[in-house]
Amino acid sequence: MKGVVLAGGLGTRLLPLTRVTNKHLLPVYNKPMIFYPIQTLVDAGIKDIMIVTGGNNAGEFLRLLGNGEDFGLKEIHYTYQKGEGGIAQALALAEHFVGKDKVVVILGDNFVQGTIRKAVEDFERQPEGAKIFLKEVNNPQEFGVAELSGDKVVNIVEKPSVPISNLAVIGIYLYDNAVFEICKTLKPSARGELEITDVNNAYIQRGTMTFEVLQGWWADCGSFEALFRSNSLVAAENGVRF
Ligand code: G1P
Repeated sequence: MKGVVLAGGLGTRLLPLTRVTNKHLLPVYNKPMIFYPIQTLVDAGIKDIMIVTGGNNAGEFLRLLGNGEDFGLKEIHYTYQKGEGGIAQALALAEHFVGKDKVVVILGDNFVQGTIRKAVEDFERQPEGAKIFLKEVNNPQEFGVAELSGDKVVNIVEKPSVPISNLAVIGIYLYDNAVFEICKTLKPSARGELEITDVNNAYIQRGTMTFEVLQGWWADCGSFEALFRSNSLVAAENGVRF
């Protein structure tokens, strides 16, 4: 199983914090943001990791992470996404790195409490398809939102104005090798990006999508409020009491 951390984009929702640096290098409590998703992969037993970055400060990732010594890795692979083509476009850049393997994709601004190791092991045994994680949230209109029917996800809607449930699709996705063929069939969305939600809906249509409801907290850093919440949760996890 390979791991891919997506850390591109221009972070425009966090301006001016992102004017001179990449969003994924901003501090979250006592570490740069990208340390956390890398650690999540390593804790799940994944040692072959590629970072997809972009923007004007991509070289800083190499200076910060080097060959991954902070995580006990021997090497880290890097590639570069031009512009803001979306999460699925960024993932497509990892095709040669992933080869014939399965892949865990994690957004560079997503944090989970605890480990995803068991879900990754379950997915190793899943013959084909994909697996996503869902989490109940108060603000589903800010995320991809899952519609369930019985024990199946039947549809995902990206940032719906009227959400059908309060189950957000979090930014950790487990895919088999079909993901790269699916990425090639995508068309840009209204925001001009290749959407990961369209990838997930393609797996749902094939009937090969499984899911888990995440235990423990989940946070991302898509807005100032979310970044602040991530800092608070990570600080609390480290024993800080304000
Ligand atoms: C992205 C995905 C969305 C997902 C979210 C999780 O949103 O498109 O489906 O729920 O990450 O962080 P974005 O950050 O691109 O707005």
